[in-house]
Amino acid sequence: MMGARVDCLRLGLFLIVVTVCWSDVVYSYSRPPARKTIFVPHSSDADSDTTPQQVHISQVGQDKMRISWITDSSSTPATVKYGTSSGSYGFSATGTTSSYRYLLYKSGEIHDVVIGPLNPNTLYYYLLGDSPQEYNFKTPPSRLPIKFAVSGDLGQTDWTKSTLQHIGQSNYDMLLLPGDLSYADTVQSSWDSFGRLVEPLASQRPWMVTQGNHEVEKIPLFHRTPFTAYNARWRMPFEDSRSDSNLYYSFDVAAVHVIMLGSYTDFDSDSAQYKWLQSDLSKVDKGKTPWIVVLIHAPWYNSNTAHQGEVESYEMKAAMEDLLYRARVDLVFAGHVHAYERFTQVYKDKADNCGPVHITIGDGGNREGLATKYEDPKPEISIFREASFGHGILDVVNETHALWTWHRNDDNEPIASDSVWLTSLSSIPACKL
Ligand SMILES: *[C@@H]1O[C@H](CO)[C@@H](O)[C@H](O)[C@H]1NC(C)=O
Ligand SMILES: [Fe+2]
Repeated sequence: MMGARVDCLRLGLFLIVVTVCWSDVVYSYSRPPARKTIFVPHSSDADSDTTPQQVHISQVGQDKMRISWITDSSSTPATVKYGTSSGSYGFSATGTTSSYRYLLYKSGEIHDVVIGPLNPNTLYYYLLGDSPQEYNFKTPPSRLPIKFAVSGDLGQTDWTKSTLQHIGQSNYDMLLLPGDLSYADTVQSSWDSFGRLVEPLASQRPWMVTQGNHEVEKIPLFHRTPFTAYNARWRMPFEDSRSDSNLYYSFDVAAVHVIMLGSYTDFDSDSAQYKWLQSDLSKVDKGKTPWIVVLIHAPWYNSNTAHQGEVESYEMKAAMEDLLYRARVDLVFAGHVHAYERFTQVYKDKADNCGPVHITIGDGGNREGLATKYEDPKPEISIFREASFGHGILDVVNETHALWTWHRNDDNEPIASDSVWLTSLSSIPACKL
């Protein structure tokens, strides 16, 4: 059923919030009430404007980690002291400090420091700037098994809190996020709130993210540059994979090659992203990384009535599906649709034993609520679909087998609502390239 959808953008200017709306003809759907948006203030014991906040870490290369944090004042160095026992920091590294402006907002001081080389699967303790507050993180393992938590469209509501709590209990090694982080939607203080909300998890394990439509934050006339806050706050290791943009990159972890794509930047066959992807895939050594996992925001396969017919879905799929298929990509994670859906292995809309499994995991918990309506009858290639908030765990146990489980927030972490064993395409003789 076609219907008009109204999109709104809240523009925060001083104390006035201007709401700009426009309508779009898309397939209609109604959502159950979302939980309220929460705002995480600067902690009360943060009496100094040099107190670190919004700490998050991300993997750089094989054995380094980028530590990112924000302070109100610039009178604190972008220095990280670290070591493998609490209270003792034998190593130190210095990085860069930056800030950005958005309308009348000026960000805090954003510090980025790359530390390493680090040992795999090791707990590190670290200090930021001149703050005495000790943080810690664990590096991912260099070999299988490895456990990824996967969650898209997080936002910052009580549902998000519940999702984060479940992820925190999962003993994961690294988080993969297929876009839509803060739902700040131009209100920049919401990015700060989001940074504080995720810090307890994101300061302890690498969070590897790609961007969604909520990260664009472009306003005609007023702020023409897209992804300003996202690029400044969530810098990812794109140079290491020879990408020229923070919007797409790849990295290896344990025996998995992870590719992050940008659904809201150019993807057609003469775009920089397409050429980069082609070159990146041609360099994958399946002997070293028998698994390939790709993240996008707008799903290429989707039988929910939400977000049908969007160019970021069908045009990107038309442009890039062949590349992924011919490289024998094992899994494609998407967000955008606020529900869970798992497809079988597919290629060009048909089941294909050498195609990737497509999974929509946009059910992290944002304020827009769930997308509850599905196309009826269910397409044969859709195996499991449910509109509940939750998160996924990809447990890559060895070169041939991985266990994927989806956990609803309503259940305890150990209870999986959907679960499937996957076999790597590199181990299937009929799919040999
Ligand atoms: C890989 O893991 C699967 C599932 O646990 C197991 O059945 C298989 O024997 C393992 N393969 C190797 C080579 O260890
Ligand atoms: Fe989205």
